[in-house]
Amino acid sequence: MTKTRNLYIETFGCQMNERDSEIMAQLMSQAAYLETASPEEADCIVVNTCSIRGKAAQKAYSLLGGYRRLKKRRPDLVIAVAGCVAQQDGESLLKKMPHLDLVIGPQNIYRLPELVEAARWQASRTTATELTKDFVIPPFLPKMDGSGAPHKRFVTIMQGCNNFCTYCVVPHTRGREVSRKPEDIINEVRHLAEHGVREVTLLGQNVNSYGQDRNPATLAENGGGDDFPSLLRAVAAVDGIRRVRFTTSHPKDLSARLISCFAELEKLCPHFHLPVQSGSDRILARMNRKYTRADYLAKVSELRRVRPDIAITTDLIIGFPGEGEDDFADTMELVNFVRYDSAFSFKYSDRPNAAATAFTDKVSEEIKSRRLTLLQQRQDEISGEISQAMVGHTVEVMVEGKSKNAGEQWSGRTPTNRIVNFSSQQPLSPGQFIDIYLEEACRHSLRGRIV
Ligand code: SAH
Ligand code: SF4
Ligand code: F3S
Repeated sequence: MTKTRNLYIETFGCQMNERDSEIMAQLMSQAAYLETASPEEADCIVVNTCSIRGKAAQKAYSLLGGYRRLKKRRPDLVIAVAGCVAQQDGESLLKKMPHLDLVIGPQNIYRLPELVEAARWQASRTTATELTKDFVIPPFLPKMDGSGAPHKRFVTIMQGCNNFCTYCVVPHTRGREVSRKPEDIINEVRHLAEHGVREVTLLGQNVNSYGQDRNPATLAENGGGDDFPSLLRAVAAVDGIRRVRFTTSHPKDLSARLISCFAELEKLCPHFHLPVQSGSDRILARMNRKYTRADYLAKVSELRRVRPDIAITTDLIIGFPGEGEDDFADTMELVNFVRYDSAFSFKYSDRPNAAATAFTDKVSEEIKSRRLTLLQQRQDEISGEISQAMVGHTVEVMVEGKSKNAGEQWSGRTPTNRIVNFSSQQPLSPGQFIDIYLEEACRHSLRGRIV
């Protein structure tokens, strides 16, 4: 029997990084590295980093810095940095931190086992950060061996971004848009469904432009092209899959064809994450978002016309360079008008290579904090009011598992992705569907009873 070694992975950032970490864990398991929950016991540590805001990158640096101690104690420990900080900083990470062995960008994760072995046996320190538009995302079937959620999974459909919003690091760290072949995606979804997965979330930085980078000759496949709406239809047609979600969508590319999917596809969950970033046209233009507030609102109202129960969520950046009180007031007004189910809001942060980093009219930390607090307070009220309005209704919930406070307490998710807690005397299993009568709205969840 081959001797197994221990692998410890720490993941920051978006679902794409979570999926990449799963892939790295699976590749390493084929090389006899098994995951452990403790970095102290690891023979190899992978830190999968995020660079979206200064704070995220800072967290990664400080964690990596702390591992110097482990390396001192165990010189044969291999430490790898993956993800967006790895891509952004490249070789300079190896210079700054002599205890690191490998720097691996998002397009190079498939080389991890080979590079770890080289680091272990030849003490080679390598930077693998090539980024090309010709990159082909390999077909990759998740191993359904009891690790990871049994009932819901992420499926990457594309990587990279061509949009160059002026605040954003992603086009610089993930490269240009590269879509996977539809048949690879469908194979993966079928494989998941055969192993009991009931919900899939299709992942991309900008799923609405799925397929646009592929050879036009292949656009004829699938009767009418392999654009995102066609892909959604094909995924929803897979037997066994009950819920389909996707993230993220850029408002400028949200087409009428995609909106009509919400009318046609019953399995498509009534939830749309549509990041607006700002309610001010002047700021949207400076962000290079390529839509106006009016364009955005027209799409929201069309979505609601087609699917009245749809929950709309968003991302907002507060204190983008040049944001004045009137621009912020426009954002508050938009939030009040749309009434988002929930919103992620962030203080603007300068990022390496992003155009806005060079803008001179930065907003002070103090003003950013004040505006963010006002916005988040208002959004909390709105989310609370929406939850309150759900009380007294019955919803179909997908069981997630026992909730943390043990006993006979279970939790599940509504089609709009809200968490619902309830008690059940009989055992349930993740991925089961059950009707729940909602009795109470709590701060970040709902409570109900089985119908
Ligand atoms: N591809 C997605 C966004 C991915 S990043 C999209 O286009 O919608 C997730 C969110 O982080 C963004 O929507 C934005 O709100 C926030 N973000 C990105 N760069 C940022 C920065 N420099 N400062 C603050 N927030 C930022
Ligand atoms: Fe970043 Fe804009 Fe691309 Fe989203 S669409 S990843 S915010 S550049
Ligand atoms: Fe972060 Fe990179 Fe994702 S910057 S949000 S890990 S694409």
